Amino acid sequence: MKVMIVWESTRGRTKAMAEAISEGVTSAGAEGILIEAKEFSELGDACALVLGSSTRMKRVLPMLKRIMSELPVLNGLPAGAFGSYGWSGEAPDEIAAKLTELGAILVDQKPIKAKDYPSDSILEECRGLGVRLVEKCSK
Ligand SMILES: Cc1cc2nc3c(=O)[nH]c(=O)nc-3n(C[C@H](O)[C@H](O)[C@H](O)COP(=O)(O)O)c2cc1C
Repeated sequence: MKVMIVWESTRGRTKAMAEAISEGVTSAGAEGILIEAKEFSELGDACALVLGSSTRMKRVLPMLKRIMSELPVLNGLPAGAFGSYGWSGEAPDEIAAKLTELGAILVDQKPIKAKDYPSDSILEECRGLGVRLVEKCSK
């Protein structure tokens, strides 16, 4: 089972969240595929997808935005959204809305957001998201 985590980050904060999600995936016995947005090519055989971006000018960062616009229909794929922000934090909501529009099933009601560098409790939440995604993959 593979969970794909695609992230874009300018100062490493959203990247730290992505790594924590991957740790959760691994701890639950699946493979976490961490991909920086600029390296992404296709979803492949991933059983779940998580997308993360920090917020810039109220928007998702450009590479992840492009990926979002090129994703196929995600009928029923378990999914999640996350990202660091400074003051308003729109990007994770924009990601969650797009995933829903594509037919993915968000495993959490709300995306995970970290103000500035993710705290230990946010990183723990990220690990939990990884575990929940693997549980959904197994069903
Ligand atoms: C040019 C610029 C624009 C930004 N615009 C926003 C914004 O509109 N809303 C917000 O919440 N944070 C904004 N931020 C803050 C970043 O989202 C924040 O620093 C975040 O922690 C960066 O995370 P990253 O290291 O994962 O990129 C902006 C930062 C920069 C440098």
